Amino acid sequence: MRVDAVTLFPDMIDLPLSESIVGRARTEGLLELGFANPRDFTEDRHRTVDDKPYGGGTGMVMMAEPVYRALKSVKKKNSFVILLTPKGKRFSQAAALELAKKKHLVFICGHYEGIDERVSSLADMELSIGDYVLTGGEPAAVAVIDAVTRLIPGVLKKGDATVNETFTGALLEAPHYTRPGVWRGKAVPPELLSGNHKLIEQWRGVRARELTAKQRPDLAGQGTGVSTARRGKVFKK
Ligand code: ADE
Repeated sequence: MRVDAVTLFPDMIDLPLSESIVGRARTEGLLELGFANPRDFTEDRHRTVDDKPYGGGTGMVMMAEPVYRALKSVKKKNSFVILLTPKGKRFSQAAALELAKKKHLVFICGHYEGIDERVSSLADMELSIGDYVLTGGEPAAVAVIDAVTRLIPGVLKKGDATVNETFTGALLEAPHYTRPGVWRGKAVPPELLSGNHKLIEQWRGVRARELTAKQRPDLAGQGTGVSTARRGKVFKK
């Protein structure tokens, strides 16, 4: 998959996505990550990318034209363009599964107080990673690109590693343990040491439902085993 980010701060995305599993996916060519900086598409001496908001108010607004030109430099026929903004639709595992099917994703990251509203017409969708305001779209892009990359075939080494996990089946995952069997007086649940696979699966099902009811009662009624991704498309196009 190819991913490009339109951003004034490429390192905010490039550096965190150079480590661990995503870093390896990039080295192996499973993910190609590129950047277009609106500042490189300005024509004035000061390379201006922002201006005061019409109608007054505090803060600066990113101007549409440098963002448009940066986007144009990376956009292809099959590109799917995502604007990251706290006003967007909430990102989810189901959305990650949809995005993982695309050939080319382009993320537009706003900074300062936001981007000129007219830029939103350039995007196929607007995404938010949660109900809080970040300093810019870059940390949100990192989260979305990470969640999508691990779904690209070949990125995770065990083929079925994404099947039983939190959110794919609409339940939080059962807890995991590793050695030692007793750690500072806390023992591993005996079911996990039983070697009885049926018992272990049962135990995991019970724990997953308990945990979901406690931590995420909003999800608890949905524990049908039906993948969130299969409950219908998250977005058009
Ligand atoms: N930009 C600033 N806050 C954001 C958020 N919560 N999600 C996506 N982009 C953002």
